[in-house]
Amino acid sequence: MITTFEEYKKEYQKSIENPEAFWDEIAGQFSWKQKWTKTLDWNFDEPNVKWFVDGKFNITENAIDRHLLGRANQTAFIWESNAIDVDNRVITYQNLHDEVCRVANTLKSFGVKKGDRVCIYMPMIPETVFSMLACARIGAVHSVVFAGFSSSALAGRIQDCDCKIVLTTDGAYRGVKDIPIKAVVDEALETCLGVEKVLVYKHTGTPVFINKERDIIWQEVVPNALSTCTPEVMDSEDVLFILYTSGSTGKPKGVVHTCGGYMVYTCYSFQNVFQMNTEQNSNDLFWCTADVGWITGHSYITYAPLLAGVSSVIFEGVPTFPDAGRFWKVIDKYKVTHFYTAPTAIRALEAQGLDFVTPYKLDSLKVLGSVGEPINEEAWQWYHKNIGKEKCPIVDTWWQTETGGIMISALAGVTPTKPSYATMPLPGIQPMLVDEKGNEIIGNDVEGNLCIKFPWPSMIRTTYGDHARCKQAYFETYPGLYFTGDGCRRDENGFYRITGRVDDVMNVSGHRIGTAEVESAINAHIDVVESAVVGYPHDIKGQGIYAYVIVPSTTKNHDILKKEIIAEVNKIIGPIAKPDKIQIVSGLPKTRSGKIMRRILRKIAEGDVNNLGDISTLLDPTVVDEIVKGKL
Ligand code: WT7
Repeated sequence: MITTFEEYKKEYQKSIENPEAFWDEIAGQFSWKQKWTKTLDWNFDEPNVKWFVDGKFNITENAIDRHLLGRANQTAFIWESNAIDVDNRVITYQNLHDEVCRVANTLKSFGVKKGDRVCIYMPMIPETVFSMLACARIGAVHSVVFAGFSSSALAGRIQDCDCKIVLTTDGAYRGVKDIPIKAVVDEALETCLGVEKVLVYKHTGTPVFINKERDIIWQEVVPNALSTCTPEVMDSEDVLFILYTSGSTGKPKGVVHTCGGYMVYTCYSFQNVFQMNTEQNSNDLFWCTADVGWITGHSYITYAPLLAGVSSVIFEGVPTFPDAGRFWKVIDKYKVTHFYTAPTAIRALEAQGLDFVTPYKLDSLKVLGSVGEPINEEAWQWYHKNIGKEKCPIVDTWWQTETGGIMISALAGVTPTKPSYATMPLPGIQPMLVDEKGNEIIGNDVEGNLCIKFPWPSMIRTTYGDHARCKQAYFETYPGLYFTGDGCRRDENGFYRITGRVDDVMNVSGHRIGTAEVESAINAHIDVVESAVVGYPHDIKGQGIYAYVIVPSTTKNHDILKKEIIAEVNKIIGPIAKPDKIQIVSGLPKTRSGKIMRRILRKIAEGDVNNLGDISTLLDPTVVDEIVKGKL
């Protein structure tokens, strides 16, 4: 682990001068069945990236079995339920081993084999993590779908990677809500005929429909399964999981991560960024508040903390239930030392006032983290002052579903921090700023599009079933470089600040949503002729969703229509993609070739109507006036 700024600089230098030697040494700290024959094989044209070529191992052996010698009785997870002080559970590394093996054996009994895809549609309970690890244990590929997605979004993801098995629960608690998860699965499966078995964990007790041929109750089979299961021997480049994420065009893409590089990089980044004490008797306790339906949960709830052998909290609920003090209450209750959350949560809690913070001591905290979207300076200061009591370094961690692990971040207490800056790249990460034409922007105090010029172990390998799409989305804009889709500033000291997406992807409450996806959901409403969606600045969510919608003049009452459009989006994607504002318009600003000028719509949504730029190239410039007048 890097412990001083000097050491960071030395390691960084080494990682650039001789990446293979650098990663060889780090990968050597894991347990392998067979050592790799070549550290790295790559080109960014196809693209083709292979790390630790021919290495054989199993990630769960490294995340679980390896620790059983000294840490069998150490806590792997503390589970905090949605309701206060109900059913909270402690899962030791030994318990984790046994449960993962039971689920693994159950999956095997269903005929699941290495390479088969398994969909996991579950809330934040320990069984969800067991399920992911059980897949990894037997070499099955998990595809976790965030349990807030609608049945049609779920169906699309199940079909895209052809899952044979779905793991789910009867229901899910979220604050005051009790969500019927199984019913969503039932509806999705009407269009997913390839699914053979559904394993249902009874969590809320909500009555569920049971299809006798297909559905099996977890509690009736898993407890009877053997608590040992020989891990499948995996190749470094075998697929570990698929996770769907939104892009600027089309349907969500299945980002593919492979076993070796993902294991090495997520663990390395976790240890160095958070600087936890990983000794056996350490009292350090990690809490990442993300959902395992997103990459943050995959990397920093399920995999990295276990690979590093630490203890962490899994939280089922939401930050505002039963009140806005919940996070702080949980931190005091378990003495959380390392806390990792999203700016949107910080802003939402800040807005509720300090009365929800002051009852709590928060004196166990040592390190605070931020992830998912740019953290504005005000939220950073509030977090630093009121939660960290000005003694906890804040690590603002920039990364993406595609990067697998944290790419640019301070190392807690080791490298400098600066509000609203992710600061410096981790060793092994080679960022580069380019202009629109792809020319490198050199020097400091500059701004450009953020690319990465050299492979790192946990990078995306392909988009499932469509390698051309992976090339097109990430490696074609600037040939020879991985393009992140983010704009970025490098300050006079060489610190990086992510300024936000430069493509048609929105970041709403830290969730990534494509404008094209929302438009296609809105267009599914029978009365909608056409729509255009843009993001606009939102105090709490970071970005809100602004939809411009054309409907025939004869249609019904606009208020009813807007409600129906929202319902349509809920049905096709899920509540996270719900437009915050819908403006009914008679036309959209288009170029003569028929392209919607989003730049103009974005400016209007932002309220920057005096700076619309040149609109003379529009097919019909008068629509702009109308839209400006009707702005919400
Ligand atoms: C996009 C990736 C990485 C885990 C969660 C999101 C934005 C992420 C930061 C940060 C500024 C950030 C970027 C990125 N983003 N972290 N610390 N500062 N922006 O993963 O859903 O794949 O979204 O989130 O725009 O491209 P994701």
